[in-house]
Amino acid sequence: MKVKFVSKLNKMSETVFLVLSKKSALKNIGFNDKHLKEITKSIENKGFGFKLNEIIEINSIKDRKLKTVYICGLGNKTKDLSALDFEKIGGRITELTKLKTKTSVIIDKEINNNENIMRLGYGSILGSYSFNKYKTKNFTNHKLSLIEIVSNNHTKLNKDFKRYASISDGVFYARDLVNEPSNVLFPKAYAQRIQKLRQHGLKIEVLGESKMKALKMHSLVGVGQGSQRESQLVIMHWNGNKAKKTKPICFVGKGVCFDSGGISIKPSNKMEEMIGDMGGSAAVVGAMLSLAKRKAKVNAIGIVGLVENMPDGKAQKPGDIIKSMSGQTIEIQNTDAEGRLVLADALWYAQKRFKPELMIDLATLTGAMVISLGSLIAGLFSNDDKLSSKLIDAGEESGDQVWRFPLNKSYDKLINSKFADMKNIGMGGAGSITAAQFLQRFVNKVPWAHLDIAGTATGMPKTSTNTSWATGFGVHLLDTFVKKFYEK
Ligand code: BES
Ligand code: MG
Ligand code: ZN
Repeated sequence: MKVKFVSKLNKMSETVFLVLSKKSALKNIGFNDKHLKEITKSIENKGFGFKLNEIIEINSIKDRKLKTVYICGLGNKTKDLSALDFEKIGGRITELTKLKTKTSVIIDKEINNNENIMRLGYGSILGSYSFNKYKTKNFTNHKLSLIEIVSNNHTKLNKDFKRYASISDGVFYARDLVNEPSNVLFPKAYAQRIQKLRQHGLKIEVLGESKMKALKMHSLVGVGQGSQRESQLVIMHWNGNKAKKTKPICFVGKGVCFDSGGISIKPSNKMEEMIGDMGGSAAVVGAMLSLAKRKAKVNAIGIVGLVENMPDGKAQKPGDIIKSMSGQTIEIQNTDAEGRLVLADALWYAQKRFKPELMIDLATLTGAMVISLGSLIAGLFSNDDKLSSKLIDAGEESGDQVWRFPLNKSYDKLINSKFADMKNIGMGGAGSITAAQFLQRFVNKVPWAHLDIAGTATGMPKTSTNTSWATGFGVHLLDTFVKKFYEK
C-alpha cells in the first residue's frame, strides 16, 4: 500500500475520510452544499461529537461517485495530540477502508504539524500488513492500494515521507521474519534471505560453523550443536557516512530460529511460539534495511547470531563447560538460557572487529521480562546513562517504548560458578537482570545497551497498526535513535 500527499481532493474519490476537531471545520474542505447538508444531517442524527477517535460512517450520500464519508474526531485539544495519536488514526483508516481500492483523507486545517500528518500516513501503512502466505482458504486480501492525503504542503511531505516508507518496509521485513515458521526460516535460509538485501546497498558477510569455530566462538556454536541445521553469523554493513573517520555504531541481535530449550526442554504448551525467538535479530535486520533504503548518513553494523536450540544425542548438556571467544569459561546449567550464549560471542566479535562507538543488542531473552513489563514496553539495561536516555527518548518518539532496569555488582555475583568463570543462569530471581549481567561480562569499556524484547516482539493485543502476531518492535526505535542522535 502507498501513501501520497496531494494538493486537493480527487473529485473521483468514492471514499473520503475526514479527520476533524469540530463541525465548523467541515466548511473549508471543498464539499458542495448538497454533500455538506447530508453530512451535517447524519452528524446531528447520530449525535456525533468529534471526540478523539470517535468515528462515524455516512453512507447516505446520493452522488454517483462519492459513496461513503467517514469522519474521525480529534477532540477539542488538538495541541495536546501526539504523533502516536495520529498513527493510530491512520491505522483505523486502513482498518475501515481496506476493502476499497483507494481512500482520500482530509485533515483539519488546524493540524499544521508535518510530522503528525506523516505519522497518520505511516500508521495507515502499518495497518495494511498481513501474513497470509500459508492460508489457502478463508482469508480476505485487502484491496486498499493507495491513500491520498490532502495537504498544501504536499511536495515537502512527499519528500519527507520517504523516511516513513523506509521504516515501514523495515518493520514489515521484521514481521515477516518473525511470523515465518522455523521449518522454513532455519539459520541458513535466514542468512540467505538477509543476503538478498545487498540489492539495497548493504554489504553482507556470512560465517558458517567452521569459520566461527576457527574464531573460537564456542559459546554460540555450542547452542546449535544439537540441531540438524548449521548455525550462522551474519554481518551487515551500512556505510552511509563517507567521512571514514567515524567509528560505526553496532546493533547485535539474538536469532534463535527455534528455542525448544534443548536438553533442558521447555513444556510443550505454547512451545510453537518459540519460532519468534529470533525477534531481536529481525529488529536488527529490519532497522539496517530501513537505514539503507533511506540512505541514512551513518555508519552502522548489524550482527545477528542465527541458531536453532534442539535436544539431541549431540546436544550441549547441563554441567558442560565451554570457553567463549572472549576466553572466559561458562558452566552451562540450563540449556534453555541459550540466548545469552549466542550474544556473548556476537558482542565480543562486534567489539574486537569493529571497535564501535556504541553497541545495542536486542533479544527475546527472558520469560521474566514478559512477567515484569508484559507486551507493551521493553526492558533496557545499560552501562551508560547518556545512551540510556537517548534510547528512552527514541522510544517515546517512535512508540517502541523502553524502561530502564538496574545493573550492579550484587546482581553480577549471582552468576558466579563453582567450576568456571560464570554460569549461564542466576539464582534468587531477577531473571532478566542476571541475564543482562551475564551479557555485561562480555562488554569492554564501550557504551552498551541491552533491550530485552521477549514481551514486545510478538503477541501484542491486536491494534489498528498491527494485526499480526509479530510486531516488528525495535525497527522504528533504532531508526529514530540514529536519526535523532547519530546522523550528520
Ligand atoms: N527464549 C526464551 C525467553 C522467552 C520466553 C522469550 C518467553 C519469549 C517468550 C529464553 O531463551 C529462555 O528460555 N529463557 C529462560 C531462561 C531461564 C532458563 C534462566 C526463561 O526465561 O525461562
Ligand atoms: Mg531458551
Ligand atoms: Zn531463547
